Amino acid sequence: MLNRTWVVKLLFVATIIVSSVLPMSAQAQAPRSPVAPRREVVAAVVKEAYDKFKNETRGKNADYIPYLAQVDSKLFGIAIVTTDNQVITMGDVKYSFSIQSISKVYTLALAMEALGADTVFQKVGSEPTGRPFNSPVAVVDMPTHTGNPFVNAGAIATTSLISGKDADEKWTKILDFYSRAAGEKLTLIDEVYKSEAATNTGNKALSMLLAKYERIYADPFESVDIYTKQCSVGVNASQLARMGATLANNGINPANGEQVIKAEDVPHILSTMMMAGLYDGSGGWAWHVGLPAKSGVGGGIVAIAPGKGAIVVFAPPLDEAGNSVKAQEVIDYVAGKLNYNLYSPASVGWK
Ligand code: DON
Repeated sequence: MLNRTWVVKLLFVATIIVSSVLPMSAQAQAPRSPVAPRREVVAAVVKEAYDKFKNETRGKNADYIPYLAQVDSKLFGIAIVTTDNQVITMGDVKYSFSIQSISKVYTLALAMEALGADTVFQKVGSEPTGRPFNSPVAVVDMPTHTGNPFVNAGAIATTSLISGKDADEKWTKILDFYSRAAGEKLTLIDEVYKSEAATNTGNKALSMLLAKYERIYADPFESVDIYTKQCSVGVNASQLARMGATLANNGINPANGEQVIKAEDVPHILSTMMMAGLYDGSGGWAWHVGLPAKSGVGGGIVAIAPGKGAIVVFAPPLDEAGNSVKAQEVIDYVAGKLNYNLYSPASVGWK
């Protein structure tokens, strides 16, 4: 048995060894997560990915929302926020783009907080549709009629679950919740909202179909309007990466320690992102990247590495399914290099 003096001496020597090995940044702020990666490694991989894919020109801006057609298709930003709140960025990360379908993740979290996961599951469901995100056919064909909270029909149904005395109160509740996940006040991009509200006949039709099947839980057109506003919230890549890091960090915003999303809801949200976050591109995404993610037609994708952090890429040109081409390539590359794939034993350190 070691006596007390020896234990103190050993602890002292161990402290000196550890502090001489750790970089300054890690000493200043010890990572909450034991697996949050080292800053230098992540920064190097982000730079590699930026250089490798900056000249990718495939894909096309969304044009069914007129505003999105005229966004500069060369914009390109990468942001990572880790669960110990390290922020690594490159490129156009200050440009504010519309969050679009990525909003659906956070409205889902808010609905789950209010109603509980089981009720939301019963009312909305969580089945991949295998069809385009705005498909009326899926609403008619699927026994749940909503598919999941990320296709437009399921997302409009989810938004209709948010309570409030009137539309304004419901909208404010949603926007405040997103802002808490980002750790700063977010606002509506009014031009996107007006552009989308003037052209969203398809979503209004979906809301009527949902009403026919009793799968919408407030006034259908009011719900579509609030949904259109939530899709028009402006975020830059860094803000969105912090919203993602909140999910990676068990629902706690890593910048301020606030528990924004209930920890027990996080696995349900992430599993739905894995199955349906990239719509009919979700299977290929899970196969190649193995991370829960969510795309938006604004050109953003957020991918979550649970316990580690979130990767956001913003680049407007989209593929056929409505997912940013460049964002998929960059996240695939970065997640691969950092061994983030959840299905790979390397993600927990196996060699
Ligand atoms: O309702 C819509 O069509 C858009 N506000 C959102 C669609 C979207 O982002 C699909 N994403 N890839």
